Amino acid sequence: MITSKELREKYLQFFKDRGHAIIGSASIIPDNDPTVLFTTAGMHPLVPYLLGAPHPQGKRLADVQKCVRTGDIDDVGDATHCTFFEMLGNWSLGDYFKKESITWSFQFLTEVLKINPANLAVSVFAGDADAPRDEVSADIWAALGIPRSRIFYLPKENNWWGPAGITGPCGPDTEIFIVRDVPDCSPECSPACSCGKYVEIWNNVFMEYNKQADGSFIPLAQKNVDTGMGLERTVAMLNGYGTVYETDVFAPIIQLLKSKTTADIPGDEAIRAIRIIADHIRTATFILGDDKGLSPSNVDQGYILRRLIRRSLRFARKLELDPLILTQVSQLYVDIYKDIYEELGRNNERIIEELKLEIEKFSRTLQQGLKEFEKLCQYIQNNSISGKAAFRLYDTFGFPIEMTVELARDNGITVDVEGYEACYKEHQLKSQAGAEQKFKGGLADNTEETAKLHTATHILLASLKKVLGDEGIQQKGSNITAERLRFDFNFPRPLTAEEIKAVEDAVNAVIKAGYEVTCREMPLDEAKRSGATGVFDSRYDQVVKVYSIGDYSKEICGGPHAKNTADLGSFEIVKEQSSSSGIRRIKAILK
Ligand code: ALA
Repeated sequence: MITSKELREKYLQFFKDRGHAIIGSASIIPDNDPTVLFTTAGMHPLVPYLLGAPHPQGKRLADVQKCVRTGDIDDVGDATHCTFFEMLGNWSLGDYFKKESITWSFQFLTEVLKINPANLAVSVFAGDADAPRDEVSADIWAALGIPRSRIFYLPKENNWWGPAGITGPCGPDTEIFIVRDVPDCSPECSPACSCGKYVEIWNNVFMEYNKQADGSFIPLAQKNVDTGMGLERTVAMLNGYGTVYETDVFAPIIQLLKSKTTADIPGDEAIRAIRIIADHIRTATFILGDDKGLSPSNVDQGYILRRLIRRSLRFARKLELDPLILTQVSQLYVDIYKDIYEELGRNNERIIEELKLEIEKFSRTLQQGLKEFEKLCQYIQNNSISGKAAFRLYDTFGFPIEMTVELARDNGITVDVEGYEACYKEHQLKSQAGAEQKFKGGLADNTEETAKLHTATHILLASLKKVLGDEGIQQKGSNITAERLRFDFNFPRPLTAEEIKAVEDAVNAVIKAGYEVTCREMPLDEAKRSGATGVFDSRYDQVVKVYSIGDYSKEICGGPHAKNTADLGSFEIVKEQSSSSGIRRIKAILK
């Protein structure tokens, strides 16, 4: 038996012994690439260095990188697909090339992991107009003892990797497969075939090209090696498991879910549901636990996070599980991974809290939404759910469109997704606070509750300045949902209990005083001169709205706000914590 911990350690040690610096996993959210939502491979954070910038730790690097790939989210639940995985990787930044890379991979697999070479097969690039047939790699494999009959030449579709986004470093690769004891499915059976005979465990990419926006490939000044080995899959193969869910990182979760389900549903449906929860909550835990501090939302990464959690809830319901078991699952993952990914330990509280909030929010509407869906099924025409009905499921019950499509598919019906998108766009346009303004205020939606919390946020900022007596205090982030406000500001230390109480009292005094909230539009310059608070950067238009709360607060802001502070009720700080270095985070509610 080999555990994931052992494989990580053996891998890193092997490459350390061969002159590689061991670097830490980068964030799961890419820093420099607006074309993708998540880090999808170990090379992703290294793109600038593959393109030629000198890396501070040298030309040979190795790591274990957290990766998220959500393209196959609908296939999760089968034996192989996962939305999160760990990638073991080693790199040469213009240093060694094919010979060392292939030889070391072979040695690691056969000498360290003791895989019988007779069980290995490889593929190399067959060549085309962009790059030549890779006889160099094929000859190296042959010299190491891989028979020519197990060296397969495959086209770009199979043996070319990258770029990770739209442009960037890429090249032909050689892939390594474990050959399973299954007879050839056809005379053409090869690693390109999906019959299951060949399981890819490692990919060595020879990154010598830079793909341009027009689709052409320009040779890079330096020849790089980028490799990736899927940790979970390799552990599963080495132990002879049929699926990654049997490995040590999943086993306790699968066991917990199995032991708690009481639902009387067919075994394969239950297994699929359990795997979906195990996969999705692991990914959600890593996204929530990333130091970037993401929360579920309706856009970008936050939307994927929301989909993962909401889909898990739907399957938890199928298994008749208490929805809050998802927090228990998440905690198990934190415990399993926190020694390797310390951010999970650091952000443990936040992970569970955000997950709980999203669970509570959706659990309320899931059941009603499912009822609504059943009703819809009875009345639909042409076996298709209209865009309008799908939008209602989204808007009123919080069903991500993908969930409606999946439910429909399970019932043999379709959804007018284009119609849904048209409704969504129309709603966006109508909505007073357009996407840009929402961004400015950090608002998740545009309801009366969020407007009140938004006004409370302005009062909070003014009160923090008043109580902490620090002219330098500024808003560093704001996120408002119908339930709570979350406000980040710069301050070097935790607030004392007395300070928290004084801030609460100050906010409540303003609420009690019943100040009117007024709005004036003015040129940006004038707003600045008038002393309005704001993050003065390019986000602002030349004419801005300035919201005043009596003469207590004056802020540049897109709105919307409550009309009078007396409408706010009572303000309570539920949490004061660190958000990142030098930044504090307050969560507060109105009662
Ligand atoms: N970047 C390569 C992959 O993801 C190694 O397969």
